Amino acid sequence: MLHPFDPGYVAEPFLTLCSDYPDATVYPADQFRVEWGPIFHRGRLDGSARVLVIGQDPAQHETVIRRILVGEAGRRVQGLLAKLGITESYVCINTYLYSVYGSVKAATARKPELVGYRNRWFEALFESRNIEVVFALGQAADAAWQAFRATPQGQAVQVSYAAVTHPTQPESSAAGDKTKLADATKKLLRNWNAGLQAVHPGLTHPDTPTPPVLYGDTWAVGDRVPIPERDYPAGLPAWMRENDGWATRSGPDALAKRRNITIKVTRGVVT
Ligand code: URA
Repeated sequence: MLHPFDPGYVAEPFLTLCSDYPDATVYPADQFRVEWGPIFHRGRLDGSARVLVIGQDPAQHETVIRRILVGEAGRRVQGLLAKLGITESYVCINTYLYSVYGSVKAATARKPELVGYRNRWFEALFESRNIEVVFALGQAADAAWQAFRATPQGQAVQVSYAAVTHPTQPESSAAGDKTKLADATKKLLRNWNAGLQAVHPGLTHPDTPTPPVLYGDTWAVGDRVPIPERDYPAGLPAWMRENDGWATRSGPDALAKRRNITIKVTRGVVT
């Protein structure tokens, strides 16, 4: 059985972007988990992407895998792309290279070095001129897009754009309350339906032409879509690719949690 994989950062300008990136002098260690390193992207870097997704920041599964949006948020995004008929031709970057610790100060988010480096990624991705649709997940991602749009290179880009609710906003806002979660999920899915309808006419090269089939009020079977094996680095075991929940930040206090990511092979894999 063949296992397709993502060869990584093999060509310019990505070689340079991944060897010369902002460190803790730009991303302060009291606001970002810089100790775990930057995590750059997921998806196509060969110019074939038709849709660009802007996420927020990597969490623990992304930290282990070194690709972004590989957990629950990623599966939801994969489902959003599938509703547009996009199964291969996408690329994702995050607003922030490093995992957010606590919250990000407005002055940090606006730092020219932080914004400028991210804009270099946008410029690199738009070099092909093939991207037709951009989704921003959440407010920070929307601000990242607006900052790029304010540059001469950003002004030259012509795409259909939708700023949508972040995929795990319902869980974050509900804080364990089931009624709040159902309510927030319904709102998110309505918001995503509006986003899909807004960008659908602008996508002229889907992988599989698909009439827009919208979301209902709750997640339905098929709304969460597996992340393709070819998005992952070579040799990643199936249990890491097919589920999340195998990496946790654990420890008796905030500092211990920050220092630790525990990986546990999914139940049933080793018997
Ligand atoms: N993981 C990411 O890489 N980005 C997000 O926005 C959420 C989860």
